[in-house]
Amino acid sequence: NAPMPAAHDDLRDLQDLPSYPKERDDYINPARALLTGPPISPLRFAGGSVGWLVTGYHEAREVLRDPRFSAERWRGDDAMRPVPESVRRDRSSGAGSFLAMDAPEHGHYRGQLTRYFTVRRMRELEARIEDIVADQLDALEAAGKPADLVRHFALPIPSLVICEMLGVPYEERELFQSVAARLLRQDRTDEEFVAGKTELDTFLRTLVEAKRKDPRDDLISLLTAVDELNDEEIGGIAGLLLIAGHETTTNMLSLGTFALLRDPGQLERLRADESLLPQAVEELLRYLSIVNAFPVRIALEDVVVGGVTITAGQSVAVSVPAANRDPALVDDPDTLDVGRPRSSHLAFGYGIHQCLGQHLARIELVAGYRGLLRRFPGLRLAVPRRRSGCAATWSSTEPTNCPSPGD
Ligand code: HEM
Repeated sequence: NAPMPAAHDDLRDLQDLPSYPKERDDYINPARALLTGPPISPLRFAGGSVGWLVTGYHEAREVLRDPRFSAERWRGDDAMRPVPESVRRDRSSGAGSFLAMDAPEHGHYRGQLTRYFTVRRMRELEARIEDIVADQLDALEAAGKPADLVRHFALPIPSLVICEMLGVPYEERELFQSVAARLLRQDRTDEEFVAGKTELDTFLRTLVEAKRKDPRDDLISLLTAVDELNDEEIGGIAGLLLIAGHETTTNMLSLGTFALLRDPGQLERLRADESLLPQAVEELLRYLSIVNAFPVRIALEDVVVGGVTITAGQSVAVSVPAANRDPALVDDPDTLDVGRPRSSHLAFGYGIHQCLGQHLARIELVAGYRGLLRRFPGLRLAVPRRRSGCAATWSSTEPTNCPSPGD
């Protein structure tokens, strides 16, 4: 077992990790710097206490699948944003946070949703997603040249897909989209976030009430039929789906397009052979690893991972971007290779919290990239990349504004 270093001169701080692009060229590969160290190394958390950073692929999988590591943030003083136990114990406010629950409670809520995320449903949604993509391609074209890919394409598609899934009526979709977009703005203040969250909660609660009275064939109506779930819990779950499924997919659509535009050889390969799209999507998911918020787990007992003893109560931050660039996963991991056989990457996490919306996300990404390739054979960046100000987060905003629909 590697002992914890007595002097922490070389100890990294969580907030200093290259998860957010500090330099312009860093954004697409924020994890590269992390891979020079050992697969698991000491890390100081925001509260000042010392835990661990996992960057190795095998070690990351071990931590994410081991029930001795808890996802319940309130357990760790080290956690980035610990949730007080009182809040966590209040089921109604916590229903939407099953991302931060352990078994068996986690399964209680997730299980209600897996009944919706079936192959049949996803197929039905696929047809609607094709329509949504086609509409946004029209919007991109109508915007003239150059057009903003984030605003007209990457941001609205996931939002409209979630509307479809939740059963938001057409006349309310614009409102839903604008509330969601405001919540995701990276330049929002804390007050704006709280106001946006309140607005979203009100919107969702009203929607749940409406579905109770007049159930349709959508996710919220399905949940209203579950006896144990009250309106607030259903609203919380719908909120989680928005938070988990919007920004992530937006970032993949925008950054994925950018990654292809800056690697013309790969883009041409994909144009020449569209059958590569599904594996290209997997490769882009691995290569970009856009979920950068370090899933954090807290050790419930002493656990040895990669030869290191993690003691009970210590926090562990898993760097998915680093794990996905580990040569233990694929050869030549820093190269984007759209023809690479599908890898067991961790872009959707691993273990019981593995992304519930991954099949949906894949459908959106394949449809989105395919639509862009077909409609705009001359797609190129119209201006040097810069933050567009209208988009979700660091990763979507930096490079992807204003690709030109081309000639
Ligand atoms: C969980 C990534 C799209 C719903 C997760 C986790 C990751 C992830 C890494 C695990 C987090 C952890 O272990 O702490 C992504 C990426 C996406 C995407 C990269 C897009 C490319 C979506 C979509 C939805 C969704 C479209 C639904 C509409 C969820 C939910 C969870 C989750 C509900 C929590 C699962 C649980 O705790 O059991 N996602 N996601 N995600 N995702 Fe996604």
